[in-house]
Amino acid sequence: MTASSTAALKLEQVSRHFGGLKAVDGVSLTVQPGERHALIGPNGAGKTTLFNLISGEFPPTSGRVELFGADVTKVPAYKRAALGIARTFQITKLFPALTVRENVLVACTALDRRRLAMHRTVASCTDLRDAADRLLESFGLLPHAAETAKNLSYGDQRKLEVALSMAGRPRLLLLDEPMAGLSAGESRSMHELIDRLDRSIAVLLIEHDMDVAFAFANRVTVLHHGRVLTEGSCDEVSANRSVQQIYLGDAADH
Ligand SMILES: Nc1ncnc2c1ncn2[C@@H]1O[C@H](COP(=O)(O)OP(=O)(O)O)[C@@H](O)[C@H]1O
Ligand SMILES: [Mg+2]
Repeated sequence: MTASSTAALKLEQVSRHFGGLKAVDGVSLTVQPGERHALIGPNGAGKTTLFNLISGEFPPTSGRVELFGADVTKVPAYKRAALGIARTFQITKLFPALTVRENVLVACTALDRRRLAMHRTVASCTDLRDAADRLLESFGLLPHAAETAKNLSYGDQRKLEVALSMAGRPRLLLLDEPMAGLSAGESRSMHELIDRLDRSIAVLLIEHDMDVAFAFANRVTVLHHGRVLTEGSCDEVSANRSVQQIYLGDAADH
C-alpha cells in the first residue's frame, strides 16, 4: 500500500461492551485523508462511544483501530494525539478561568516539542503567541483573546473548542455535535467555520441534524443500536428506507 492511499482511519469489527450492553457492536469504518464524513444515528446509537474508541479514551472490547496505517488498538489517547488526531467533546472542555488566548497557548504548548527544551528562547514564545493569534483570527475569536473563557457566549466557547483541537495541526479531526445547543445564527456560523477547515484534514462529524450532516459530508455512516445500519453518499443514505424509518418513523409511510 502506498502512503497516499493509506486511510486516515480504519476500524475493523470494533466493539465496546458496557456490562451486558453492546454500545458499539462490530463496526467497520474507513475514512480517507481529507474526507468529510458524517456519523449520524439516534440518541444512544453509540456515536460518542465510537469516538472514544477512535481517540483512545478506552480500548475496544474487540476489533482493531488503525490511524494513518498504524495499529493503535492498544495505544493510549495521548500517543494517538501525537499521530495527528484531535477531537472535541459533546460537552465543552475549556479552562474556564484562563483567557481565550491562554487556552490556545496551553493547547499549542502541549503539542509543541519545544516544551521539552530547558531554556526556552523569547523568540520561540513570540512564535507561539503569533501562532495562537493566527488560529484565533481564523476562528473569528481574536477580538475576544483577552477575555476569560467562561465569559464568552456559548457559541464562541464551542468555536474556541474547535480552535483548540486545531492547535496541534491534526490530520484527522473528530467533532462531536459541535452545533448542539447553539442558536440558529450560531449554528450557521459554526457550520461555515467547519466547512472552511483545511481540505487536507479528514473530518468525522457527529451531527444530529441530517440536513447539516448532508450539507457537510461526502460520505455518511448511520449507526443504530451500536451497528452500522448503512454507509454511502448523501444521496444513497437519504434514499435508504431503513434510515427514513428511523428518522421519520411512521411518517415515512404516509
Ligand atoms: N461509560 C459508559 N458506561 C456505561 N454505559 C455507557 C457508557 N458510555 C455510553 N454508555 C451507553 O452506551 C450507549 C451508547 O451511548 P453513546 O455512545 O453516548 O450514544 P450516542 O452518542 O450515539 O448518543 C448508551 O446506551 C449509553 O448509555
Ligand atoms: Mg453522543
